[in-house]
Amino acid sequence: MVRLVIATEEVQPLWIVDEDILSAAGQPLVLRGAVVTPSLKAAMIRHGIERVRVRPDPEEADLDWRPGEVLPAGLVLRARQKVQKLFDDTARRRSLSPRLLDAVVEQTGDIVNRLFEGPLPLFAELRSLARFDDYTHEHSWSVLLLSLALARAAQEKGLLKALTYQDRLTLGVGAVLHDIGKASLPRSLLQKPGPLDEEEWKQMRLHPQKGIDLLRPYDSVMPLSRAIVAFHHERPDGGGYGLAKGSTLQDGHIPELVRLVAIADAYDAMVSSRPYRRARLPFEALDVLKAEGGRQFDEDLAPLMADIVVAFPAGSLLLADDGSVITVLSPGDTSGRGSLPEGLVVATFSERSRGRLGQSLRLGDRSSLLFGAASPEDLAATLLEEGSQDPVRAALDSYPPRLVAAAPLWDELLAYALAREEMALSR
Ligand SMILES: [Fe+2]
Repeated sequence: MVRLVIATEEVQPLWIVDEDILSAAGQPLVLRGAVVTPSLKAAMIRHGIERVRVRPDPEEADLDWRPGEVLPAGLVLRARQKVQKLFDDTARRRSLSPRLLDAVVEQTGDIVNRLFEGPLPLFAELRSLARFDDYTHEHSWSVLLLSLALARAAQEKGLLKALTYQDRLTLGVGAVLHDIGKASLPRSLLQKPGPLDEEEWKQMRLHPQKGIDLLRPYDSVMPLSRAIVAFHHERPDGGGYGLAKGSTLQDGHIPELVRLVAIADAYDAMVSSRPYRRARLPFEALDVLKAEGGRQFDEDLAPLMADIVVAFPAGSLLLADDGSVITVLSPGDTSGRGSLPEGLVVATFSERSRGRLGQSLRLGDRSSLLFGAASPEDLAATLLEEGSQDPVRAALDSYPPRLVAAAPLWDELLAYALAREEMALSR
């Protein structure tokens, strides 16, 4: 079953939208399962929806397999709306509304209950981030879910003491509010289409302090939730940053639950695309967490992320060292969490792998994969950026890369994405 994240302009009539999309005002714009019509597509473009997760084949809808749906869709929609409202309102008024804060805390309690019952949650979906200006609140929402699931995994492995309901709620509230200080920063800084310069970074590093300032009138927000807001950018190796007047961490020790949120925060940032940076795939982000264990992240807690996310979500695109492009059809058996994804060879950039076109396969090990991409656009952009360097160059017949042959649909999608990226580069 093919799924993909794609630029909205490339979406074709009769494809199925595979996610709930909220408008900038927080109203549901498209619900998962909607059939794309020309007018729906036009409406999405008009609302600034940059990319969308779709299923091109409507016939396959019934075979759906969604282990990632750990919460009921209605609850997710309401909770996302509340978080979005809180952030937008705070940005407008430069203060926190007690009513909206209460609503988010109450909702968080509900989510805490759900995530700590039943099997350990497993997040199996590719992030799409429909609108780039959604980033702060969609990110806060994801960090909430990932932090709670990580805490549960840590508790089940005996790496954390048993958490009471109050501990869990305190963690959840801190996680969902960790970046609330960004609501006090200029919109132009948050939505800058390129990397930040030195001066802008200085401003950005003020967001923990601004978050604490916003929370000052609210005694009801627990000290540990505040610590998450204040210290989620502090690193175990002493790097990072915290409050404006310097750290007030006791002996430099970062509390465990703050370390958990820092891991969830970094992971979600890596797998999200921004206007100036492409999304990494979960398997690539998991590699970074592992490599940075003991430096940027807690060494014992960071590997737990692999227990709660699927490394190769359906719809991921992979470039193998023989030049073939593989789309992940199904993450495979995740019951043992050592998932072996199934993929389909949809295109190739080399004569060598022409014979593999159209073949489905089970990915054994990672060593043959050069890189992953969340969408055809990301694949094209990465190819053009890294294609002149070994070992990517060795996988291609020519540089600039040319598609040798491809399956229908992918032929057009990849060729078009490549042409568009080439044009953008030459400008
Ligand atoms: Fe932050």
